[in-house]
Amino acid sequence: MNQATNLSEVIHINKDPALKNAGPIGKSIPHESAHLHVSGQATYIDDLPEWEGTLHAALGLSTCAHGRIKKLDLSAVYTAAGVRCVYLAKDIPHHNNCGPIVADEPIIADDVIQFYGQVIFVVAADTYQQARAAVRLAKVEYEAFEPILTIDDAIKAESWVLPPVDLKRGETAESLKNAPHRLQGSSAVGGQEHFYLEGQISYAYPKEDHTIHVHCSTQHPTEMQHLICHALGYRAHQVSVEARRMGGGFGGKESQSAQWACIASLLAVKTGKPVKLRLDRDDDMVATGKRHGFDFEWDVGFDDEGRILGLQIQIASNCGFSVDLSGPVNDRAICHIDNAYYLDAVAIRSLRCKTHTVSNTAFRGFGGPQGMFPIEYIIDDIAYYLGHDPLAVRLINFYDDVTQIAAHPETARNTTHYGTTITDNVIPSLVKELAQSCDYTARRAEIDAFNAQSPIIKKGFALTPVKFGISFNATLYNQAGALVHVYSDGTVLLTHGGTEMGQGLYSKIRQIVAHEFAIPLADVRFSATDTSRVPNTSATAASSGTDLNGKAAQAACITIRTRLAIFAAELAHTTLDHVVFSEGHVYAGTDDAIDGKGLQKWTFGELVLRAYQARIQLWDSGFYKTPDIHWNPAIRFGRPFYYFAYGAAATEVAIDTLTGETQILRVDVLHDVGQSINPAIDIGQIEGGFIQGMGWLTSEELYWVKSGAKTGHLFTHAPSTYKIPTAADCPSIFNVKLFNNQNVENTIHRSKAVGEPPFMLALSVFSALRDAVSAAVEAETGIRTKLKPKLEAPATPESILRAIHLGISQPFGPRP
Ligand code: MTE
Ligand code: MOS
Repeated sequence: MNQATNLSEVIHINKDPALKNAGPIGKSIPHESAHLHVSGQATYIDDLPEWEGTLHAALGLSTCAHGRIKKLDLSAVYTAAGVRCVYLAKDIPHHNNCGPIVADEPIIADDVIQFYGQVIFVVAADTYQQARAAVRLAKVEYEAFEPILTIDDAIKAESWVLPPVDLKRGETAESLKNAPHRLQGSSAVGGQEHFYLEGQISYAYPKEDHTIHVHCSTQHPTEMQHLICHALGYRAHQVSVEARRMGGGFGGKESQSAQWACIASLLAVKTGKPVKLRLDRDDDMVATGKRHGFDFEWDVGFDDEGRILGLQIQIASNCGFSVDLSGPVNDRAICHIDNAYYLDAVAIRSLRCKTHTVSNTAFRGFGGPQGMFPIEYIIDDIAYYLGHDPLAVRLINFYDDVTQIAAHPETARNTTHYGTTITDNVIPSLVKELAQSCDYTARRAEIDAFNAQSPIIKKGFALTPVKFGISFNATLYNQAGALVHVYSDGTVLLTHGGTEMGQGLYSKIRQIVAHEFAIPLADVRFSATDTSRVPNTSATAASSGTDLNGKAAQAACITIRTRLAIFAAELAHTTLDHVVFSEGHVYAGTDDAIDGKGLQKWTFGELVLRAYQARIQLWDSGFYKTPDIHWNPAIRFGRPFYYFAYGAAATEVAIDTLTGETQILRVDVLHDVGQSINPAIDIGQIEGGFIQGMGWLTSEELYWVKSGAKTGHLFTHAPSTYKIPTAADCPSIFNVKLFNNQNVENTIHRSKAVGEPPFMLALSVFSALRDAVSAAVEAETGIRTKLKPKLEAPATPESILRAIHLGISQPFGPRP
């Protein structure tokens, strides 16, 4: 039998059209662990039974933002109850580094202190409480240096973690000069704490002959393996890292799980005992990186309709003290500065500021949200200036869709500033559909009427789009592997390089595998992601978990299924095109089969057992790499994204102009996930992403102490001061619909990635709040100026009140 033919085409799954929709693909099936999550039976790392002799680690953190340790007196720590090991930078046998790309991040600070909360020593003790009590007994004296704590100060000092980057398209200066209208402006958006419910945790146990196994709450087991190796001076085959599930990652466990994995491993090897390091919530918030806060400054030129003719913009991010993932995060910001809008002439300057705060990192959207923030702000400015409806200004700035391109191919507006030709744009029709279904025009008028008669409460309304590029910018990471075992009883055990953090990756891949064999979902199970099962994996990030691992798992299934089909065809004396996998059975032959036996039928399990007895391999691996993408990182040009995910949200809000309190009254979302593999999970991701984005832009404020003894201390280091949204903050009307679309690219079942894109739908919340602030200022002053009042994110009650007061006091003046 010739196996060189396209294996995916020789076998028919559910050939009978009546059964076409019988499989699990496209069904709203509960999360694979939902029953365990809700009953407290899902095993997180801290729930694992502890090995005999397990030690517990705690961190000694610096209380100085920038300086040098003059004196470190640990005598009381050494003699504290239960302490088995006190560990310093000098004890690290090999590299003292956990920086993922650039080796500039010490596991334990060895010389200069770079931020308040940096690890300066660690302790392992018999109990968790003993370890935590012991670290507090340290006496440390510092020689303090001047810290840089803000983006502003970093720019003044030219303090960068990476050199500034410029990306230009067209003659921006010329376009600005010739534009009929021009506006300069500035804004800022804060960072964000990941607030995963399960904090950072690693549990390492040393095994025979210089090997170690580490349970780690991480999105990137392979990178943990590498960094543990570097710290210990081990090679990759000595270290295995396992991750069954995380209680949330959100990007915070992409690179930033490494320090804790390294520390647990170092202590385990040093003591010869299993060591667990679970960060207490406050330590976790102080010592781990967050979303980058950004400052923006721009100069925009536009025509009478609001069409952007030229944009010059500076985007400066707070990277913290080390590089971490700041390069790719800022590159993604650059690549999303356009959001869904065609920018003919654009000049972007990206500053990657080094400050003496914790090193900032990946967070859902990975710089994309920060990149999009200013363009939505600018569009609102333009619309206000011209007195147009913001939606109309958005519509005329959108990239062309296929119909528009066909109408005027020579002047098509569909190439991005980084050289990608967009061929799958659905934004114009998606936005029009949403505007209709949410009653945009009528509600706009109702809200204006409401505001005219409501002196204290003002409402605001906005509809904003999202276009988000899917794939890792760095082409190399767009690969994945999977391992599929079919046991002789017909059940399937599956694993791949992707990690489960609540997003439903395992659930979707399980559906994909069940579909390929046409067997019940219950017959497919997952084993934990483990570097000893599938090696050399990429982070589960960039929303591409299902795209990559789904295709890899499918490939493994096709290989096995083909072997089974060939075997079935032989048994039934028929050919491959007469083999069908359907509804838990395998059929081979036709009613008029040559030997007169007719159609043969087995359950999947029966055929598998016979195949095993005939010595046919029943397990295999699969591999996938995303095709057709390329990226030149030196000039930031190419096609880094395989496709785009699209969506839009319309949000109605109310603000109390006396207290600054806000309420999200109604949200309508229309989002494009291509052909959904699991609509329930996708809608969950959309709702969760939206609410998390709303938190970023409204209530979640990171505040670092600016002066005094605690300079550089993260003041908002616990839920008492750092406010993530609660159920009560969610919109009372929250309509989420999936846009009817399929991926034009050949992704797994024509689906689209969904993990991050919906986060940016929350820009509509901010835009609506700013709309309400404008209404408040206009009502108070009785004047409608051309300059829309400024609002800084997060739009906390303080920020809202500041914006109203500033707007009232300076209605005509230049903006600060
Ligand atoms: N959803 C849940 N419940 N928990 C998470 O930690 N992380 C988000 C998103 N959705 C996250 C989540 C982020 S940052 C990414 S990149 C994707 O999930 C990663 O998973 P995926 O590639 O499988 O979508
Ligand atoms: Mo997500 S920020 O790419 O982990």
